[in-house]
Amino acid sequence: MDAWRDEQISRGEAYDRSQDTPINPSDTPVFGEIVRRRFGRRAFLGGGLAAAALAAAGPALLAGSRRAAAAALPAFVFDEIAHGVDETHHVAPGYDADILIRWGDPVMPGAPPFDPLKQTASAQALQFGYNNDFVGFLPLPQNAPAGERSARGLLFVNHEYTNEEVMFPGLPPVAKGEDPLARMTADHVGIEMAAHGASIVEVMRDGAGKWKVVPDGQLNRRITTADTEMTIAGPAAGHERMRTKADPNGTLAVGTLNNCAGGVTPWGTVLTAEENFHGYFVASVKAPASGDKKADYLAGNPEARNHKRYGVPGLWYAWGRFHDRFDIDKEPNEPNRFGWLVEVDPYDPESRPVKRTALGRFKHEGAGAVIAADGRVVVYSGDDERFEYLYKFVSEGRFDPKDRKANMSLLDRGTLYVARFEADGSVAWLPLVFGEGKLTAENGFASQADVVIEARRAADLLGATPMDRPEDVEVNPITGRVYVMLTNNTRRKPEQVDGPNPRADNVFGQVLEMVPANGDHAAATSRWELLVRCGDPAAGAVGAMWNPATSSNGWFASPDNCAIDARGRLWVTTDQGSAWPKSGTADGMWGLATDGEGRGTGRMFFRVPVGAELCGPCFTPDDETLFLAVQHPATDGVAHYAPFGRNSTFEDPATRWPDFQSGMPPRPSIVVVTKTGGGKVGG
Ligand code: FEO
Ligand code: CA
Ligand code: CA
Repeated sequence: MDAWRDEQISRGEAYDRSQDTPINPSDTPVFGEIVRRRFGRRAFLGGGLAAAALAAAGPALLAGSRRAAAAALPAFVFDEIAHGVDETHHVAPGYDADILIRWGDPVMPGAPPFDPLKQTASAQALQFGYNNDFVGFLPLPQNAPAGERSARGLLFVNHEYTNEEVMFPGLPPVAKGEDPLARMTADHVGIEMAAHGASIVEVMRDGAGKWKVVPDGQLNRRITTADTEMTIAGPAAGHERMRTKADPNGTLAVGTLNNCAGGVTPWGTVLTAEENFHGYFVASVKAPASGDKKADYLAGNPEARNHKRYGVPGLWYAWGRFHDRFDIDKEPNEPNRFGWLVEVDPYDPESRPVKRTALGRFKHEGAGAVIAADGRVVVYSGDDERFEYLYKFVSEGRFDPKDRKANMSLLDRGTLYVARFEADGSVAWLPLVFGEGKLTAENGFASQADVVIEARRAADLLGATPMDRPEDVEVNPITGRVYVMLTNNTRRKPEQVDGPNPRADNVFGQVLEMVPANGDHAAATSRWELLVRCGDPAAGAVGAMWNPATSSNGWFASPDNCAIDARGRLWVTTDQGSAWPKSGTADGMWGLATDGEGRGTGRMFFRVPVGAELCGPCFTPDDETLFLAVQHPATDGVAHYAPFGRNSTFEDPATRWPDFQSGMPPRPSIVVVTKTGGGKVGG
């Protein structure tokens, strides 16, 4: 985000650009010839020939999964909408897309009505937070019989970050050379900290089939970065590198940061992923006057090597000016208490969330949990930064469907693996275990705590494959196949391309499919295949790869979140950031066929208002309801939106979605999609 200091760009754009700072120093060999060898040269040519090669490759891959022989997945049946950009949302004809809950709406009893001109931290702590990302639906009651699990439930929604330029009145665009943090007040920071975290709200379908939030639902809860206590569990719990002045035992953190995609466990808890935690830290004492030499910030810091590998301090927020724990000169260990998967029990509003350190510390995105063949729990998770890695955790203990309490400690003991993609189409899962291989004192690891705290550096030493920003990961419960959204990587150079990351200057991203060996997610190997290479298949230079049945609206760019519906179909939502003018369409949701003759065909279902990205997505168990999370409307790339053509502010936003009321700012919101008159979403 250093560019922020020199150019007039929004927080959202600065955030996006921060992903352009490659900080992985590893020099893992790449396999530039892998895809050429596997698909033949034609797979690189884009368009129909490439799609033909893809279709031919599909069945061979499927043969690797025992469960893949199941009946074909249903086709998508809906009228596609068109690419485009405007100030509101669009859904396929025949569907209703209603606003369910917006930033500032009440979650807790006593929440005051939303007044953006008089917002306070205490009001925000009772209201729905900002930038909703992951959405999980948990049926009520928890053990409701099958058939009664889709009309009432809890929505778990996390709140990734905040866009102060459209949240707060009186903040003009940052001037050239202005320090964007200097104008932020303690009140701003208090609201921001309360707007981060998560909301748990009870929702139900009324007699007319419309969803509504249950006012004062007994299980409603706000989790914030300001004051929600969280237990630190697993190998790093209590370690000296986890200790701070406020927590001399190293076992109790406050809050969660930058929660992105996530997952629901088989025992009905939520895993929410701490992603870009580095952005919240500053360094006050050693900050050079010029303000942008990160090496200077880290000079003399006991965690300098570790912090450098994670981009700490990121200097995105002014929190450290008012709260010492976000200042690494005052609390060098506080960043070690973020970057974890956090387990939350939404069915118990008194429960303390738990940071599961056994699953490693990185910029977690997504948590695809599944039960392996022998009952062990497997959680797949990506590290979303350019040239970072894909991981999976395999528990030591086994899932017991009759013992929820025991299941809730399964994620504290087990083995963390990182993926190396091999030239023969296999994936080797490399164990990150202290004392094994290079993970020894010689390389600065004295315990498993060191390994999980510095999971990135441990993975470097094992030779993991640097990926094009792994975002959400989901496991298809019908086919057993695993889908990874690789969103983009414009810093990959021609000599760095490899099988799963086959394009240099990768603007548009790709969708990766993996099949575990013998259908066993705990296995030491998988097979991999690219499902699509994103971007416009009609533009030869892009090198896209889609099934030729894909229409001019069916291709997409920068896959980010995804969901598998109850019948096994893959849906993808996108986040192009401020790069959306390169595709010419706002972000949205597409159905993406994964099997049969249609494999690799995209179909556009939903589109967001200008400046937003689309997250969620989440289906009820009956597939009749789809919850979508529209994040940061009016922010990303709006200067390129011709009818507006400038950066948004609170007073002057590119859109006032979803209220469209004078004086009301744009509001990140959950949208609920149902078929008009009833029926399954997507046919
Ligand atoms: Fe929060 Fe990786 O998107
Ligand atoms: Ca994401
Ligand atoms: Ca995103």
